Order: sequence, then structure tokens, then C-alpha cells
Amino acid sequence: LDKEVVLVQNTYPDGNLVELLLLLDAARGLGADKITCVIPYFGYARQDRRFNPGEALSAKVMLRHLEMEMDRLLTIDLHKPDVLEWFARAPAKDLKAAPAIGDFFRDRGIDLVLGPDKGAVGRAAEVAKIIGCESDHLEKTRLSGTEVKIAPSHVGAKGKKVLIVDDIISTGGTIIAASNELKRLGAREVFAACTHGLFTGGAVERLRGTCDMVVSTNTLESEVSKISVAKVVAQEL
Ligand code: R5P
Repeated sequence: LDKEVVLVQNTYPDGNLVELLLLLDAARGLGADKITCVIPYFGYARQDRRFNPGEALSAKVMLRHLEMEMDRLLTIDLHKPDVLEWFARAPAKDLKAAPAIGDFFRDRGIDLVLGPDKGAVGRAAEVAKIIGCESDHLEKTRLSGTEVKIAPSHVGAKGKKVLIVDDIISTGGTIIAASNELKRLGAREVFAACTHGLFTGGAVERLRGTCDMVVSTNTLESEVSKISVAKVVAQEL
């Protein structure tokens, strides 16, 4: 073959991971000169430490096995990009979906972009910059043993069209709690966007009960994966 091969494959569900390992070997067997692998949704990446004794360090295990046949790795919005330190044999880079999310919401009248926690404030700011509006993050304050207040840390939500941006939506619990609270605070509309839409156990339906729009990128395909990350990947390639 004597050429650079680009493989695009998720490591989730597990069948895709096995397929990827076999594709890597098949490409090498055909004489591929260089193999670049794009993993839009990296399953196992969130197990980045042993949360309980006896657990596997899954992110490290997967990266160590994958690096054996790859010459370059591109991922998108890893929960913690630092895990790529375990992919030591070749260059690796975590790409950001924020430009694609920002482009999608440009001209949709968004007043405020919120990250669901302090750690997500950078992503929210990046999206807000593209849209041309303000950004902030949500802060959880414990009022008593049974009461928790969730509100934007610095700005008000009253009368605003708010967009919450997260890296992953799994059960939808985080966004539903935030959205309910924002509506209570007088937000006019609440939109939710994420990079990786896992949407477990009917999460899309539950989210629609409180959010005015739910959308994800197409790193995982679903009925709401309306934002393409193709441009982000193509630009890097
Ligand atoms: C957490 O750190 C992540 O950024 C997401 O907020 C979380 O994984 C979302 O999970 P769920 O949809 O189940 O609340």
C-alpha cells in the first residue's frame, strides 16, 4: 500500500473496539506506511483512575494496547485529555468540538452559555465567543442536608435564552437538574448541547421534558446528533 491510512472508529460499544484492533492489523498487513486513527468517542476514557480498590485502570489499558499499531491518534473532547499521556509511543491530540457547537448555535439568539460545573467553564467560554454572548458556569451550593441550590455563578438567568454545554450526557441527570433550576430562576428558554450523546435509558425523552432543545455532535449517532465534527477532524488531518 505504501500510503497513509486514516481509520475512523469509536471504541464503544466493545464490538467496535475489537473491530478497530483488527482493522489496524489489516491495514498494516496491506503495507500501510502510516496509520492515523480518529476515535470520535473514546469509550473507557472516563475510567482514568482506580475509583475503588480492585478496579482496572481502563483508559490506560486501552491506550497502551491501541498505541501498538498506531502512528498518530486523534480524539475529541476526552473527559480528561491528560489520559493521552498513556499513549506514549506516537503523537496524540485531543480535538475540541466547541467550534462546531458554536457554529451550530450562531444566530439562534442565545444570551448565555453555561458550563454545568467549574471545570466546564473553558468550553462554555469558547462556544460563547463564537456565538458572541456571555458565558458562566453553574455553581452548586448546599443550603442544608436536603437542599441544594444550582445557579449561574456570576450572572443572572432571568429572561435569557440559555445554552448549557457539556462534554457528555449519559442519564441526562446533570442537565435536567440544571435546566429545572434555570427555568425556576426565570430563564426564557433552555437549550442543551453536548459532544458525546450517550443518552442512556430514554434520556432524550426525559431531557425534552424540561429543555427546549437537546442536541449533540455526531461522535455518537442518535436522533439528535445534528452537529457534525467532520470539519474539526478534517482541519487537523
Ligand atoms: C461529568 O463530569 C460529565 O462532564 C457529565 O456532566 C456527566 O457525565 C453527565 O452525566 P449524566 O448525564 O448522567 O448526568
